[in-house]
Parts: sequence; structure tokens; C-alpha cells
Amino acid sequence: MKVLIIGGAGYIGSHVTKAMALAGHEVTVFDNLSSGLLVNLLPAAAFIAGDIRHADDISAAFSRGFDACVHLAAFKAVGESMVEPEKYSVNNLSGTINILNAASASGCRKIVFSSSAAVFGSPEYVPIDEDHPKNPESYYGFTKLEIERILAWYDSIRGIKFAALRYFNAAGYDPSGDIVGLERNPQNLLPIVMEVAMGWRKELQIFGNDYDTRDGTCLRDYVHVSDLADAHVNALAYLEREGKSLAVNLGSEKGVTVTEMVEAARRVTGRDIPARYTGRRAGDASSLIPTSALARSLIGWNPRLSDVDTLIKSTWDVYRTYRTPTERA
Ligand code: WQD
Repeated sequence: MKVLIIGGAGYIGSHVTKAMALAGHEVTVFDNLSSGLLVNLLPAAAFIAGDIRHADDISAAFSRGFDACVHLAAFKAVGESMVEPEKYSVNNLSGTINILNAASASGCRKIVFSSSAAVFGSPEYVPIDEDHPKNPESYYGFTKLEIERILAWYDSIRGIKFAALRYFNAAGYDPSGDIVGLERNPQNLLPIVMEVAMGWRKELQIFGNDYDTRDGTCLRDYVHVSDLADAHVNALAYLEREGKSLAVNLGSEKGVTVTEMVEAARRVTGRDIPARYTGRRAGDASSLIPTSALARSLIGWNPRLSDVDTLIKSTWDVYRTYRTPTERA
């Protein structure tokens, strides 16, 4: 299929681009490079520079004719979304509407959408299944949930079939080393742990050790980004085969605490990784663990790389090639 990958130069997008190309699709990346990186653009992909906030940009891209698109272009910082909601409204919400209108006008009837565990809010029970109540606790999470609802309307009115993939904690890097761009100003645990291991940060702050978990630190489901990428390929095949929309949770179903992640990172990297406990971070749930049974049964998804050691080693193998966060050694 001819597939337009919107946000395909970003951290997850570049892994999706690679997986789609390996699966035999003809891929074109559309990205404004606001957080995506030129170094992530894979030779297998054509590139269109453009911005989803500009309806003309995205319409021009779709007018080239695509059978399907993958939409990963979004701001994704939970904390920032509570301070600058306008940014999230314009990019995540209006930008998606621009995409859907352009897809609709051009006859593109399949979309794979990056949704998030953030649609659920604090769990009322774990593991979280797809029917779990959806009460996002951040504006970011609200934008993802709202987009899922808009997708359902475009499905019923325009016949655009969608796969909403709710990622839990994405981590890791392409193990074959084809993708090496580092996220600027990372906010997530593993990149921060890597920055401490590299000596770019003095220490890791562990946000709270009085949670109701086995060691008092938060329990999360870390899922390898290449496993997530495979889910996009499988989801697109499902849309083609079944002609039906779906929304599924994507996690490894292996809960890891912050302390366990740090200890494993010390072992895998051989570095000290100084860490100290600080107070809880506002908005952190104690445990965020999904069941991915639906993804297994509907799209045949089985994560292969989401064990802690592979997550850390594949990330470390990229970080260690850098001298500074922006300069490769
Ligand atoms: C993981 C754990 C922190 C940094 C977020 C979004 C979620 C999804 C994934 C996009 C938590 C702890 C972290 C640090 C720490 N995003 N931590 N010190 O918050 O689980 O999930 O990203 O869709 O919607 O909420 O991910 O990587 O920030 O944190 O102790 O310096 O690591 O408290 O328990 P989170 P994270």
C-alpha cells in the first residue's frame, strides 16, 4: 500500500516508518521537524516537509494519493498540556481534523492513530482493558480521547476506518541501529536515566517511594518502540482485511517499578546512575498496567523486545554513541 506517515521523523514515527517499509509498503513521511529529526528520516521513505496545522500542507500531501495514513504528529508532554492547552488544541485537535478532512477529500479511507494510555486517567482497576472508564486527567489525554471520538464519527459518516493504538510507556530503540535521533529535552524515565548514565545530568530524581507497589515506586508497563511499530503494520493489515475500526491497548503486560528500572540500567550500562527519592510528581498513578489480550487476538500482536534488558540495552547502544545530547562522538 501507499502509506503516508504523518509525524514519521519522530521517535515512534521513525520506528513505524521502518516497520512499514520492511513490510513492503511504499512509505512517505510528512513532518514539520518541530520535534522530529532529519537523522531519523530513513532512506526507504520519501519526505514531505509540512505542518498539520496548515490545512493546505496536508491537503497537498494527500492529493498525491495514499491508500492509508498513520497519524503520529502530536505534542505529548502531559505537564505542558496543563499549562499551554491552546498548543494542544491547535496541533492535536485541529491538526487531526485537517488530516481527516484531507484524507476524506482524497479518498484515503484507512488511518492508524497514535492514541495513549492517557485516555484512561487513574485506573479504577488493573489490568486496564479497553472498556475501562475513560477519564483523562490531563488536557493531553483529553485530546487523544476526543480524537478517538472524532474518528468514530468520520468512520460512520465518511467510511474512514481507524485503528486507535493506545500505547502504554514506549521505550527502547531499533536494535539494528538504524534510528539514532535523541529526543530533545526528554521527559520520560528511560531517556533521563540514560542522560544520568552518560553524565549529562547529575542524578535521577525518583518521584515518590510511598506508593502501594512492591517497592513503593510507581509501576509501569514499558513496551519496546519496535514492538509498537509492528502493531501499526498489523493494525493496517486488519483494516484492509476486516474493513472494521478498532481501538486496542498496547503494553507488554510486564510491570516494572522505577527502582527496578534504575537497578537494571546500572547492571546493563555498568554506570553508577546516582538517584535519590523526591516527592511524588503530581498526576502520577501508582500502577498503569494494561491487558493487551484484544491486540493479541484481533491483530495478532505479540511484543518480542519488551523485556527490561532489551529496552535498556537498545537505548544505551544509541546514547553511548553521543558525546553530548546533540553531538555524536
Ligand atoms: C515513568 C515513571 C514517573 C521521570 C507518560 C504519560 C503517558 C504516556 C507515556 C504519552 C513514573 C517516574 C520519571 C523522572 C521518575 N505518554 N519518573 N523520575 O508518566 O508513566 O507516562 O508517558 O502518551 O500518557 O503520562 O511516563 O516516563 O514520565 O514516567 O521517577 O525523572 O518514572 O514518576 O512513575 P508516565 P514517564
